[in-house]
Amino acid sequence: MISRRALISRRALILGGAAAGAAALAAPSALGEGLPEAVDTLPPDAPQRHLSLVAAETEVPLLGAGKPATSRFCAYNTTPFLTLRAPQGTRLMVDFENRLPDPTTVHWHGIRGPYIFDGVAPITQPTVPPGGRFAYNVPLPDPGFYFFHPHCDETGQVGRGLVGLLFVEDPADRKLGFDLEHIIAVKDWRLDEAGRFLTMFTDEGASTAGSFGTVRAVNGSPIPPRVEAPAYGDVRVRTIVADATRVIDFGCDVDEAAVIACDGQATRPFLLNDAPDNVWRMGPAMRVDVHVRMPGPGQEVKIYDYRTAEPYLLTTLVAVDKGRKKTAFKPKALPVPKELPLPDIAGASHLDFLVQTSAGATAIAPPLPPDDPLAKALIESRCVGDKTFWAINRTSWGAGADLRLPPPLNVLKAGQSYVLSITNVTKHVHPMHLHGHVFKVLSSSKKKTLPQFLADTVIVEPNETVDIAFKAASGNWVFHCHILEHMDSGLMGWFRVA
Ligand code: C2O
Ligand code: CU
Repeated sequence: MISRRALISRRALILGGAAAGAAALAAPSALGEGLPEAVDTLPPDAPQRHLSLVAAETEVPLLGAGKPATSRFCAYNTTPFLTLRAPQGTRLMVDFENRLPDPTTVHWHGIRGPYIFDGVAPITQPTVPPGGRFAYNVPLPDPGFYFFHPHCDETGQVGRGLVGLLFVEDPADRKLGFDLEHIIAVKDWRLDEAGRFLTMFTDEGASTAGSFGTVRAVNGSPIPPRVEAPAYGDVRVRTIVADATRVIDFGCDVDEAAVIACDGQATRPFLLNDAPDNVWRMGPAMRVDVHVRMPGPGQEVKIYDYRTAEPYLLTTLVAVDKGRKKTAFKPKALPVPKELPLPDIAGASHLDFLVQTSAGATAIAPPLPPDDPLAKALIESRCVGDKTFWAINRTSWGAGADLRLPPPLNVLKAGQSYVLSITNVTKHVHPMHLHGHVFKVLSSSKKKTLPQFLADTVIVEPNETVDIAFKAASGNWVFHCHILEHMDSGLMGWFRVA
């Protein structure tokens, strides 16, 4: 049970406890005067779940049986795609331990909670050093499909497997009467023939569409799942792109398939056939829940990524006779939670953001001299790559020897609604993610048939402008591209909301 006030004093504790390094981290003036209020999103007496979470290296047979296993795989609790389930309204009390040889943090992607547990060094916490621990207090106010991952050397650690899934369950969901839930985690592996990991960050990849895996995989395996479901039954297919790089065009070979949630948030159901290009385009970090109606006995539903020249099979659903009769397909609508703070579009302030290459970026804050005692702590906790290729509004999150922590993109007012127009003037697709908020995707300058929906990550194509709206929550929140080499090479900024 942690009250709002206790959250703040906990922050003081964390900073005090980590001694000089942490104190130094609070020092860069770019962090601003004082700290925003860390606002809890559940009542202090909300039921708690305790979780011991350990990040460590392990060995996993990624190439399949009979092939050499991959060492230095990174996992939570030694389980690839560790999957947590918790009821809506509970609070996860996480005792996290870092047994990796490198610093890390845990970010709870898509969760609305106090920013001091958002896992972003250095603006919400210092990094957790090898052998270190950190207590995360993670309220789960909204049902949905979330995930968690490090926010430090993301390209390397996520690339080697460090991703967990988190389902926040609404008891009302059971009444929807799905016959089966099937999870698809799309994530490729960058391996050589001997099963060893290749370098995750390459200049060529980071400056273009990213470094792709050499082995495509679903749920960790190069062999796509084949699952049985009742003929004429209803399957909830829950898909996440957990890859560092790959963008997919999610689709299937039947007409009776409808999107019911985007990034875990309920949406008014729409047929995949009515989405732009009859597919749901998803970049890294994006999730989609699709209601698939099974065909008659013996028939199959094939779910594909249609983005590649040869469609890539993600899953086969096989219809087995359970004595069901065919009925008309009516997509199941999930309830939109009342607690979700929706933006007030009419009263919103408007902000424009350009996603660019770093050629046009300018240094705003002067770099720290390399012998400054802050420099080392800052480098370690910033967890970035060595090069800068990208920028937002001419500002890059500094990389390598460039020790600037950029000033915030904007200082926003807590409780005020904002419309962000995000324009991509680069040649590559960027899935843009805002921490700590669920936003509404209002419109796209290119995809006229795109429905409005709630999300935490949105694709912005080359020469496209996408408008999103949200009600700002107090905190320091990053806004970045979720192609991990892009974020590690400059495509990240932050908002200070106070
Ligand atoms: Cu999954 Cu900063 O994000
Ligand atoms: Cu990008």
